[in-house]
This record gives sequence, C-alpha cells and structure tokens, in this order.
Amino acid sequence: MTQTPAVESGDRSHALAPVESVAQISSVLRDADPSLDPRLAALARRAAADGVVLLRNDGVLPFAADRRIAVFGRAQLDWFAVGYGSGGDVKAPYSWNLLAGLRDVGVQVDDELAAATSAWTAAHRPATSAEWGRWPHHLPEMPVDDELVTTAAARSEDAVVVIGRAAGEARDSLLEPGSYFLTDAESDLLDRVTAAFARTVVVIDAGNVMDLGWLARYGDRIAGVVLAWQGGMEGARAVAAVLAGEIAPSGRLTDTIAATYDDYPSVVGFGDPEATVYAEDVFVGYRYFETFAPDRVLYPFGFGLDYAEFTQRVVRASTDADRIELEVEVANVGTEHSGRQTVQAYVSKPGTALAQPARELAGFAKTSLLAPGQRERLVLSIDLADLASYDDAGTTGHRDCWVLEPGEYRFAVGTDVRRAEPVASITLDEVRVIREAVEAAAPDPAAPFRRMTLERDADGRAVVGWEPVPTATVDRRERVLDDLPTALEPTGDRGIRLDDVAAGTATLDEFVAQLTLDELALLARGDLVMDSPLGTPGNAGVLGGVSASLRTKGVRPVTAADGPSGIRLSSYASLLPSGTALASTWDPALVRELAALHGQEMVRKGADVLLAPGMNLHRNPLCGRNFEYFSEDPLLTGRLAAAVVAGVQSQGVAACPKHFAANNQEAFRTRHDSRVSQRALRELYLRGFELCVREAKPLALMTSYNRVNGVWAHYHHDLVTTVLRAEWGYEGCVITDWWLESAVDPDFPALADNAYRVRAQVDVLMPGGVKTDDGPQAYADDTIVESVARDDGLTLGELQRGARNVLGLVLALAPVIDARATAAASPRRRCATATDASG
Ligand code: BGC
Repeated sequence: MTQTPAVESGDRSHALAPVESVAQISSVLRDADPSLDPRLAALARRAAADGVVLLRNDGVLPFAADRRIAVFGRAQLDWFAVGYGSGGDVKAPYSWNLLAGLRDVGVQVDDELAAATSAWTAAHRPATSAEWGRWPHHLPEMPVDDELVTTAAARSEDAVVVIGRAAGEARDSLLEPGSYFLTDAESDLLDRVTAAFARTVVVIDAGNVMDLGWLARYGDRIAGVVLAWQGGMEGARAVAAVLAGEIAPSGRLTDTIAATYDDYPSVVGFGDPEATVYAEDVFVGYRYFETFAPDRVLYPFGFGLDYAEFTQRVVRASTDADRIELEVEVANVGTEHSGRQTVQAYVSKPGTALAQPARELAGFAKTSLLAPGQRERLVLSIDLADLASYDDAGTTGHRDCWVLEPGEYRFAVGTDVRRAEPVASITLDEVRVIREAVEAAAPDPAAPFRRMTLERDADGRAVVGWEPVPTATVDRRERVLDDLPTALEPTGDRGIRLDDVAAGTATLDEFVAQLTLDELALLARGDLVMDSPLGTPGNAGVLGGVSASLRTKGVRPVTAADGPSGIRLSSYASLLPSGTALASTWDPALVRELAALHGQEMVRKGADVLLAPGMNLHRNPLCGRNFEYFSEDPLLTGRLAAAVVAGVQSQGVAACPKHFAANNQEAFRTRHDSRVSQRALRELYLRGFELCVREAKPLALMTSYNRVNGVWAHYHHDLVTTVLRAEWGYEGCVITDWWLESAVDPDFPALADNAYRVRAQVDVLMPGGVKTDDGPQAYADDTIVESVARDDGLTLGELQRGARNVLGLVLALAPVIDARATAAASPRRRCATATDASG
C-alpha cells in the first residue's frame, strides 16, 4: 500500500521565492510570523556553514574580493535546501538560493550569465508539488553552448558549477544519471566550463552522497570542490559565506566517499523487496574500507579541508586500567585565515578472538574559532568500557556479553580516519567482561546467512572471509511469559486526576488503576487521523487525551510534529540544516544550542513532541533518507542525537528519536526485512540509540517500518522490551512509525495487530487509525480489547504498563501544554490577535 499521509504534499511553493537580501528577511519574518526567532535563523546559518565540507582547494577559495565569478547550474537558483518527505516538509518563511547568497556576501557574480540562467530556469521550473514518494532526484540542467560559456569566461576569472541532488523519504537514490550519477547535461556543462576557465569550483548541493568519480576526469581544472549538503533556509547563504571566506569551512565527512558505488560493502541486496542481508556485518563504511580496501576511497571518513593551516600535537596521553585521556594542542599556524579544527581519536582493537575493523572512532572534539597564531588544548577522554565488542558467538568464551578482548588497544589521533598517527596504547592481559546481556533479536535460524569476517593472507594482509552468523536459540514465548507484569487491582473511578499525580497527592499507579479497559486501549493509540483536530493544526498526530473521558481525568492531548529539519505544522517554522549537514559540523555543543532554540520554537508553535532526530546509520549511500540521518558511524550518530534530544528537551518539550531500528533503505520499507547479526546490531545499528537513550533520556522513541530478523520493529519484543527497556533502562513512551502492518503473533496466536504490538511494549499506534489496502482509515481496530478476553491474550498488567509509559510523557509535557492553553485563553492575547487582524 502506498503511504499517503494526510498533510504531506511536497509543495514547496511557499519557499520558492527566495529572499535576496538580509534586510528583506526581517520583513519576510514579520509578514510570515513574527514569533519566528531571528536568533534561530542566525544559529542555523552558522551550523550550516560549519557543516560545509571542503573537499578540494588549490587556493582558488575563498574567492578574492576583486575576482568576478561566473556561476553555472540551475541549482544556484533552484537550491535544494532540504530533502523531501516528513523530514523536509516544513513551511519555511523564506529560503536563500546560492546566487542571492553570493551577492549578499559581496561576491561579484557575472550578472549577464545570472540573468540568462534565471530566465531559463524560470521558464523550465517543474510543477511545485510532487506526489508523495515520487519526488524528483534532480531538476534538468540548463543546456549551455560554447558561446555562452566563452563569453562568460571573457567577463569572469573563475567559475562555479552547482550540481543539485534532491533526497527524500520513500524514495532511494538510483544508480542512474540525475540521481547517483551526473546527467549528460551536467557532464556537458562541466566539460565546457572546465575547458573555458582555468579554475572551476564545484558546489554540490545534495542530501546524500553522490558519485564523485567524475572529478578525476577534470584533473586540476576543478580547483575546488565543496560539499554543501542541505542546510535549510539559511543553507545557501551559509555556503556563500564559506566561498567568500566570511566563515571558515570546518565540516568533516561523516561517511566514506568511495571510488565507485560497487566498492561499498553493502551493495548486494540493497533495495530488495523482501530482505536485505547485512552480510558486511560490523564492516560498515570506513570500518570496511580501512580494513580491506583503503585504495577504493576517494575521500576518507572524517576528511575536510580548511582555509587555515593547523598543526596538532598530543601533549599528554595518560592511561590507566579503565580509560585514556588525550590532551591535544591545536595551533593555527597560518597567517591569513581563522578556522576550527576537529581532532579525531581512533582505536585499533586487538582482534584476537573477534574480527575487528582496522580503526574505529573512539572520540572527537572541535576547537573554537582560532585566529592565525592562536592555539587551543582539547581533552579527549575515552572510557575503555565504551570500546567493548559484543560477542554473539561465544568466541571469547563470553557469549552475549560486551567484552574487551585481551591484547593491545592502540590509539591514533588525527584529522580523519586515514590521517591519524599512533599516540598511545593500553594492553589488557585477559578478557574483561564489561556487561552481560542476553541474546536478543538474533537472526532467524530459518534464514541463516554468512557474514563478513577478517582473515589474513600469507603476508599477514587483511582479506575478507566469511563465517556462518549465529542464529536465535531463545524461546520468545517463554521469555515474554516470564516477564509479564503484575496487574494493578482495578479500583474504578476514584476521582483522581492526572494533576493529582503531578502535584504528588496521588501516585501514577493509583491513577492508572482507575482506568477502564476502553480507556487503557485508547491510551495505546493516537487520535485516528493525521492533522488531528485535537492538536495544533498540521500535526502529524495526537496521543494521550484522545477521548473526552481521558481528558476529563486530566490527560492532555499531546501534539506530535515532524521532524528533523524544522517543525512541520500548518504554520510557518524555521527550516533547519538536515541531519547530515548538522553531523558534518562534528559539534554536539553547537547542535545542542540550535536544538534548544528549536525547542523554544516548538513551545511557541504548539509542537509537544518533535519526531526527531532521525538517527539510522548511513549503511548505503543510496538510502533516500540519509539526509535526515547523521553518519555511517554510531558514536558520531549517538552523540549528535543526544545533543538534539538534550537541546529540545531543555525547553520542556519532547524529542522522539527514530527509527528504531535498522531502517536503512526506503524501497519497500514497510515490508522488507533487515537481516543482521546481533553483533552488528549491538555495535552499530543500536549503538547510536543506546548512547542517546543513556545520555539524553528522550521522552519518546519511534520504531521503524521494516522488519528486523523477520519481526516488524513495531512488534519487536526483543528490541523494545529486552534491549531498550530492560537492558538500557528506557522508561519513555515508544510509538510506531505511522500505522502498522497487520500480523498475528506467531508465539501467541490470540494476539494480532495492536495487541501483538502492546505485548512488545510499543505503547502507542500512531496515528490511531487502521491501515488498509485503500489507505489509512479513521477508525480503530478492536484487537486490544478483544484479546484481553482470550486465553493467552493481553493481560491487564501489560495494558497498564503501556498506559504508564504514555502518561509519563503526558505528565512531562503538561506544564508546556497548560501554559499554551492559558496563553490562548488570555484576554490580552485574544485582543492582540483581533487588532493584528484588523490592522
Ligand atoms: C515517517 C516518520 C514520520 C511520520 C510522521 C512517516 O512516514 O517515516 O519519520 O515521523 O511519517 O510524519
């Protein structure tokens, strides 16, 4: 079934007319919505700029003030500020394009060329709305002939060619021209421009990594390459500031850029309708390339150039049995430019019993802005326990444990995974068990596969080997039955309101014990439709007080709104840098600050739960939603996600990290099965979530659409109850991604659909209606209530447990929701609105 959310459109008409000057912004903001905070826009610009990755620069950048620049490529005007779908569909008050941004920052652009490009682009602009999931991958390029290019070359010194690539939910990139590859028109443009200009700078405005193998064709005629990502409404202006040298580029790659697509270890089976075997196991991204194929890398993980010239020196490396502390002094030894350096620490593990990647990111830190001559000391503190590996096969003698193998842990420090020099090591004499866990979410014995492992050839070189993946041995039925919660004795309505719980005059259990079966079932689903009338207009859904009886008891309706790059409601909201752009800053402190202002905007706009951050790993560069996600690395992902959650939640509203777990392709996303070893799950796909949950305690969390080792994530007792809640101690509210796939619980045939889900402790179906072959329907199924009466059906205790999780979220949000209600009811506010309207 095609998913057709009620409030999605892909319509970007509100953002198509770009602002052309900073002066214009204040009037645009005033007209659009005076409550939009210019400080958020300013910080978004800084974050977008700090995420710009400079891949090549022969000295052409920053552009000297006296040089005239010919800018080619329609994307300078039709700039992709964000990807499509729930993560991008924000009603932005304005959006910069690159041409306006360059002019704003004082770059002398070739106006004649700009006029020609503007005229052509305006005449060839496609319809503004795109059908859900059928977004364009690119927009056709303006054809150029030699005359246009050579006359432009006569007027200008240097050229910029802008390549634009969209990204979007429900649509992966394709191995086709215009998507992962250049189109003929783009190649032709590059051919002609690089022939006519001595120096060309390529700016890539893309949500996801695209093929860059073509750069080699042009040799040093391409003098600069800038990965702009999609930086939101201020993104193009931020890129312009970097090109002009007003802001120093300091972004670093969060993914490896390989020589060709086929070099990635995840290509086999990507996009399959039924199942994808994650055969590369823990060798994702740089973990694979640095171990087995270093020569297949165009740009390594962590890479990015600066205008400034830095040195760095480890001034102290202190180790004890549990940790290593590295103090690194970074100096800007250049004379012209300021800049920020990111210091990265990598660990090489012994790999005596477990196959280990050559290097793994173990810590990182970024300097402040250093002027020429300035230096700064950074301290990277790494707990050995955080470097433990998950032994899912018992090779170390400790099956289902997090372990540190005996041997030497070597640490290297540098500016990317490749350029990191050994600085210290710690040797463990014997295996150390860091944490005991239990087998969970293991591959199905009925679908075994072989996973990548590391072998050595006769010369000791790492070569790819294969071994059978350990499959599940646990009896899930028994596990669930052993863990059923005891029910609270139902008391009937004692007049306890949720406010009494907030005030401490009653306990949450006393409140829950009063609820009827119907009320418990209502708490287990959201309101039936997107854009629920119970919430702020344009919401993605509402949960909590979805019935009059619940509201009478003080259960407030909670508004959930997308998403990672801004608040997706009917009203205007700030369009912020996409996940990859933010992650490329390698700056959790900056991201937290931005998220705090974002949280303030949520309070003003009436969004209680932000359906963000998106934090699935970039397993394959074609995944359509990579733009929303952060990186191929779980540490970077986890730290960035924790920063978003902490920032948002510092304002009294909630974040909802998503999609738990292993949502790494968009094709067939509601049915395909991610088949993955427990070890890869624990160390990579769950690791970011674990870091985020432990560090920032998100109030909500969203499951994914896909299956994980045969079980849909929204039914996954092992993922949600065994790992997330029991092992990590998560106490928040777990919600589905929008709707669920109908299924009967194989271990408890009395349970189907929502009853099956509640048993997993996925608390709330969002929104609350039923998904049929004709699309989402605004009625609820009866599976929960019906199942309670059956043998082996849901127990009252399970429903009460879920209700507690939901009510915990409502309680946490009540102050913000109440303040909003008070403000809306205040006579002063009503009066001001009336005056505004008449004026
Ligand atoms: C997406 C979620 C999003 C939800 C609500 C789904 O299509 O996968 O990420 O939060 O819609 O808009």
